[in-house]
Amino acid sequence: MNLTGEKLCEKFASCVNSRPLKRAARYRVGVDLGTANVVVAVVDEDGEPVAGKLKKAQVVRDGLVVDFVGARDILTKMIQELCDELGEELVDAACAVPPGTGMADSKATMYVVEASGLEVRNIVDEPSAAAKVLGITNGAVVDIGGGTTGISVLREGKVVYTADEPTGGTHFTLVLAGHFNLPFDEAENIKLDEKNQKRLFPILKPTMEKVTDITKRHIQGFDVGTIYLVGGASALYGLKDVMSNVLGIEVVVPQYPLYVTPLGIALSCP
Ligand SMILES: Nc1ncnc2c1ncn2[C@@H]1O[C@H](COP(=O)(O)OP(=O)(O)OP(=O)(O)O)[C@@H](O)[C@H]1O
Ligand SMILES: [Mg+2]
Repeated sequence: MNLTGEKLCEKFASCVNSRPLKRAARYRVGVDLGTANVVVAVVDEDGEPVAGKLKKAQVVRDGLVVDFVGARDILTKMIQELCDELGEELVDAACAVPPGTGMADSKATMYVVEASGLEVRNIVDEPSAAAKVLGITNGAVVDIGGGTTGISVLREGKVVYTADEPTGGTHFTLVLAGHFNLPFDEAENIKLDEKNQKRLFPILKPTMEKVTDITKRHIQGFDVGTIYLVGGASALYGLKDVMSNVLGIEVVVPQYPLYVTPLGIALSCP
């Protein structure tokens, strides 16, 4: 990952669910509707992060909107809060869908964003948005989100292969819930506390190996020099090493993997 991308993510992380960093002449909004989180990124005319919001939500499954009203209400509230904090109307936006999403499902995502008061200027695919921030044109982007792992192979800036498999952060939590006999939410909190992650590694390793196997299967036949992990679950302690050891390929995890795609979506807004 290039330094510019890392710095942008760091800057964005510093303002998510906090105060806006500055006023700008123009604002561009990126909306990432995920299985686990809805993330809104706001950047200025030069692509500098200005403000952001993250909210846990269950309005999307496998990248597709399953609760239109819920999604609209959550997003409308997030956008309203951002407008209040910035003292400005937000209008121009981009949103993203998993690669290969059909027209009807892309429109559902667009309608949610427009129902929140924004105007959709661009719809991008998620790995291309991530690649923009990572500063890459070749390699594999593996997005380990809440519900799924999305594998995309990029060649000369184009997504040439894509797949989505139903194993993600939720499955790591389910494994912990089963192991410790705890409700899902408690297991999720234990997982997210970075102090615990080293101790949890042996319990979570088989699921990491599963994600690695999935990745291996899908990148076979492509000349992948580097794998870039994005999505919240790729921050898990040990996952990067399991993957690089098994696959024998360089694996890069940015410092803020949760924010790469949302930021890339905002940067894709003209
Ligand atoms: N620091 C962390 N360590 C481990 N897991 C994390 C961390 N932060 C977030 N996660 C996990 O990442 C997942 C959410 O990631 P993300 O926001 O990228 O998913 P999403 O975009 O909502 O889902 P999807 O891409 O599957 O639609 C959750 O399962 C959460 O538990
Ligand atoms: Mg996602």
